[in-house]
Amino acid sequence: MWPRQSFDVPGAGPGPVPSTVHVVSEVMKPGNSQTTSVVEQTPSGSAEFFDPDRHGDEDTAPGVIDFAVNVRPGPPEFLVSALRDRIADLGRYPSAADLTAATSAVARLHGRDRSEVLLLGGAAEGFELLAKLAPKHVALVQPSFTEPERVLRAAGARISQVILTDPWSLADVHVPDDADMVVVGNPTNPTSVLHTRAHIDSLRRPGRTVVIDEAFADLTLDPVTGAHEPQSLAGERSDDLIVVRSITKTFALAGLRAGYLLASPAIIARLSTGRRHWPLGTLALVALAVCAGDEGQAYARAQSEAVAAHRAYLSTRLAECGWPPAADAAASYVLIRVPNALQVKERLRHRGIGVRSCANFVGLGPDHLRIAVRSPELTDVLVGALQDVMAENAPPFTRQSRESEAT
Ligand SMILES: Cc1ncc(COP(=O)(O)O)c(C=O)c1O
Repeated sequence: MWPRQSFDVPGAGPGPVPSTVHVVSEVMKPGNSQTTSVVEQTPSGSAEFFDPDRHGDEDTAPGVIDFAVNVRPGPPEFLVSALRDRIADLGRYPSAADLTAATSAVARLHGRDRSEVLLLGGAAEGFELLAKLAPKHVALVQPSFTEPERVLRAAGARISQVILTDPWSLADVHVPDDADMVVVGNPTNPTSVLHTRAHIDSLRRPGRTVVIDEAFADLTLDPVTGAHEPQSLAGERSDDLIVVRSITKTFALAGLRAGYLLASPAIIARLSTGRRHWPLGTLALVALAVCAGDEGQAYARAQSEAVAAHRAYLSTRLAECGWPPAADAAASYVLIRVPNALQVKERLRHRGIGVRSCANFVGLGPDHLRIAVRSPELTDVLVGALQDVMAENAPPFTRQSRESEAT
């Protein structure tokens, strides 16, 4: 059992407030299997932000300018029209023809056999299904998306937190030798770091399954060659790899719930056993076929180019405020370190802007925010609001105080 520190935070709010707030920072040092626990300061009135079940969607609301959720603007018209065309079919159960069309499109896209594809009700379902492999010891490369921990812990797996530190590279990672499953995000949420295929490869061992969460991979580009998805392992045929993918981000289908995973036929068979009939609805199947098809992939590539350009603009403007991205970003969001980030977030919210607190990511804390990449026009609105927040609160929000804090 990994150590947890518990704190009662009286008067925390607003919103649903857990009676006990768990703040955990567990550091696994390279070459050292020992862990050390670090207790971080808990600002008052912020308990909800530490809740492990909290997601970015709680940091936004209708009418708020959304820099909190990583879903791209959309969905695109060709997709909406394909879905609209099938509304009349919703009186029937999802058909074998739609299942085959979606599975074939995904298999073709990644150069895989249909027997290596499992369609999901969102990437999140993929993590839930991992419990069927009955892993004994799961190593989670952190900080990362919080769902794998939640569902695998609920399934009774032993969990080790392998916490990377700034700049969150896998270069010196030490994973416990007996971990029979490792879960890693690529690119990682919320750091936006894209690991190399070689680094992911270094996690492999006999008897171990490596699960790669590629929910945002279709938004990545090689900065030099411009190649799409430069580090993806989706096309890699191997008995020990599971690649989890989503179509909810790039295609703005978060409410539809659709994704897929790629693995060996033997793993797919184990994950499918006992699964309910009709796990995906007709519209989710149609969406998967369209997104994995030519038009969908041309759109994904165009989105990745827009993200790269808009991320560069966002990074420059944030740097002007003294808060450059904390790591080289490859996805549709950047991580920044801001003193008093929860207060900054709250003041931005008063100005109608939502950003994602990273207080509940293992290995991060209340001093990090995740900012979604948006158009330059919206970025200007964000930066203007940030500058207002800084101006009205010289210390402790300014760059100068940030630098002096670091010393
Ligand atoms: C890194 C990562 N993986 C997976 C998911 C889940 O994606 P889906 O909407 O396909 O379930 C998310 C959602 O936020 C995510 O951030």
